[in-house]
Amino acid sequence: MVGPDVDTVVVVDFGAQYAQLIARRVRQARVYSEIVPHDVSAEGLLALRPKGIILSGGPESVYSDWAPTLDKAIYEAGIPVLGICYGAQLMASQLGGRVARTGRAEYGRAQLTLGAPSPLTADWPAPTRHLGADYDADVWMSHADSITEVPPGFVASASTPDAPVAAMHDAERSLYAVQFHPEVVHTEHGQSLIERFLFDVCMARPTWTHTNIIEAGVAAVRSQVGSARVLCALSGGVDSAVAAALVHRAIGDQLTCVFVDTGLMRAGEGDQVEETFRRQFQVDLVHVKAADRFFGVLSGITDPEEKRKAIGATFIRVFEEVAREVEDARYLVQGTLYPDVVESGTKDAATIKSHHNVGGLPEDMAFELVEPLRLLFKDEVRALGEELGLPEEIVWRQPFPGPGLAVRIVGEVTEERVAILRAADAIVMEEIRMAGLQRDIWQSFAVLPAVRSVGVMGDGRTYAYPIVIRAVTSEDAMTADWARLPYDLLERLSNRIINEVDGVNRVALDITSKPPGTIEWE
Ligand code: XMP
Repeated sequence: MVGPDVDTVVVVDFGAQYAQLIARRVRQARVYSEIVPHDVSAEGLLALRPKGIILSGGPESVYSDWAPTLDKAIYEAGIPVLGICYGAQLMASQLGGRVARTGRAEYGRAQLTLGAPSPLTADWPAPTRHLGADYDADVWMSHADSITEVPPGFVASASTPDAPVAAMHDAERSLYAVQFHPEVVHTEHGQSLIERFLFDVCMARPTWTHTNIIEAGVAAVRSQVGSARVLCALSGGVDSAVAAALVHRAIGDQLTCVFVDTGLMRAGEGDQVEETFRRQFQVDLVHVKAADRFFGVLSGITDPEEKRKAIGATFIRVFEEVAREVEDARYLVQGTLYPDVVESGTKDAATIKSHHNVGGLPEDMAFELVEPLRLLFKDEVRALGEELGLPEEIVWRQPFPGPGLAVRIVGEVTEERVAILRAADAIVMEEIRMAGLQRDIWQSFAVLPAVRSVGVMGDGRTYAYPIVIRAVTSEDAMTADWARLPYDLLERLSNRIINEVDGVNRVALDITSKPPGTIEWE
């Protein structure tokens, strides 16, 4: 629960990635949603005072021995429930209906025909789009078992050729279920169905607004830290920047931000942080220029993991030195997001993962963590950043690895080689932005390999480095595809990098997906 003025809908997670998507769809409708594990007790769930409950899909069959179930008291609590896919089958089997393996599995698109009227589909348009149609909507399915008989009190409100009960409800008890996935974009009117459940069945109010998100965050930070001093390591990335801006809104001068310039940042990052935080927000900012120190420890190291370790350890040392100077600092801001919290499965999971988040801060530092973004999804963090007045360059910045440009330089990291890569990378960033592709591409950057090749420029022979362009599309960095950049953009990149960056005589394009490649080169 975020506060008395914000209505909550709970999503019960049955173990598939769909729960997070459902929660995001609910929040898109401006209703706050929280994900809970399926073994939640009715008591625990009701403590969240939900206006409604959504049961997610899951990978199991209701017949398997390890099929997750739900505390049946939840159906009797007088709170509307919507079961989706596995959630629908579970509701049917727990309340006295029948679920069977009919041998007619459905994966992908299916044609849905409406049956008994349901408030969830009341505003669907007549099926004019499907010419001569004898069905109402294309929906997305993913199931092997089917509901073959509705429980007592229920009516079937939709079917497909292979699922006799594709939707059912008992309006009296406010129990609803759909076999298809309204949360995926391929399901026509899916968002509308979710909204009808939220607003017409649960009577939830659209109270998850930017103003309420900020107010809830500000109140939580104030009550956690009181009058103590708070430290925040700014990385230049969106999560730490939004976290810092929100904490600053809450406690103003009690916050000290630390930006460690490792010498391995992208072009303009330090200036951007200075401009935004020191000048625009007037945050107390310590800008540590530690490039020489980092180049010193990186000297002679070529192994990727050793680079990471050396950079991580140096970062900690530098940060600790600064932290010691800030009197009475007891709290440390972390940009942990909701998916991290959900995926680690426990309420206090964020503390377990925290040291991964800010360029490797030490686990044993005597700080209590402040995590103002731990209830938010990435798209909400970006919207919040815009609302708090952060510049577009920061809010829409692509992910950047903690060890910075060092893991994009194969072989030894020297000041000269970083300068070459940073200049080439700045051209990639600028051209991608000018082509309007910044938000569609997950990451796009330059890589500097450890080889040189022969070329000819003017009258002379050159022997210089190539630059590899790496651009990928992705949803979550776990898998990625190489981005199909337009030829004219590639041509401009090639011309500009060779003409403007000394020490480069060739440009290559990386066309490897992940797997088998990784996004970074190291
Ligand atoms: P890979 O290269 O493994 O990267 O496909 C997946 C995502 O993680 C980022 N990445 C890192 N982030 N420290 C970080 O904070 C690291 O050492 C690191 N290595 C890779 C990478 O940019 C991509 O978004």
